[in-house]
Amino acid sequence: MRGEDKAGLAAGFERLSELSRYRRFLSPTARLTATQLAYLTEVDHHDHEALVAVEPSSRHGLGVARYVRSSEDPDEAEAAVAVADDWQRRGLGTLLLRRLAARAREEGITRFTGLVLESNEPVRHLLRTLGDVQERAAPGGTIEVRLQIPEDPLGEDQGRLAGWMGAAARGLLGTRLHGAHGDGRAPAAGADAIAPRGER
Ligand SMILES: CC(C)(COP(=O)(O)OP(=O)(O)OC[C@H]1O[C@@H](n2cnc3c(N)ncnc32)[C@H](O)[C@@H]1OP(=O)(O)O)[C@@H](O)C(=O)NCCC(=O)NCCS
Repeated sequence: MRGEDKAGLAAGFERLSELSRYRRFLSPTARLTATQLAYLTEVDHHDHEALVAVEPSSRHGLGVARYVRSSEDPDEAEAAVAVADDWQRRGLGTLLLRRLAARAREEGITRFTGLVLESNEPVRHLLRTLGDVQERAAPGGTIEVRLQIPEDPLGEDQGRLAGWMGAAARGLLGTRLHGAHGDGRAPAAGADAIAPRGER
């Protein structure tokens, strides 16, 4: 994510469903303000990192994962992830979160925290595929989650394999291969998870 990505981020946000926006920002959010866009794109790649997945042909943003380091505990950062609705359930959220976790580890962060809706089973499940998660009830139908980031988040291919096997067991292999809408587009491996500028 770079400062010049404001228009791309605003356009990607417009394509998110109301439910996804609500789950991501925990309040009805019609559009991102100029202040929010500045905050979300002008990241220092150290205390605040954001990775974007881009569809290779259209260059449309498909998903973003970010962390913001805690001002009280430098080992901890609040993490958030969102994937375009028609790209959900293809493994992209997993890919983004794992890459973000690897970046966080490089910056000395060992725990992700977050406040999520209790009803947000997709993200609660996603976090559990990455490592040990503690959950604590919080006000307003939310829960505080705390994830111990594995030492090598990208080396844990077993997690990915377990995901594919779980999908097969639930009869969801087709969904995972072809996307939630069965439109036959390429699975997430076809998307570039863009690394921060310094890494390219
Ligand atoms: C949470 C979110 C990022 C997941 O992205 P995704 O690309 O669909 O995730 P994946 O395809 O990698 O799936 C991750 C796991 O969650 C599971 N999952 C995904 N959607 C699910 C759903 N609707 N119900 C149950 N499980 C679900 C998948 O089966 C997968 O588990 P598996 O590996 O054991 O099969 C996506 O749903 C999203 O953008 N939601 C809106 C924003 C949001 O809620 N953000 C989190 C709060 S910051």
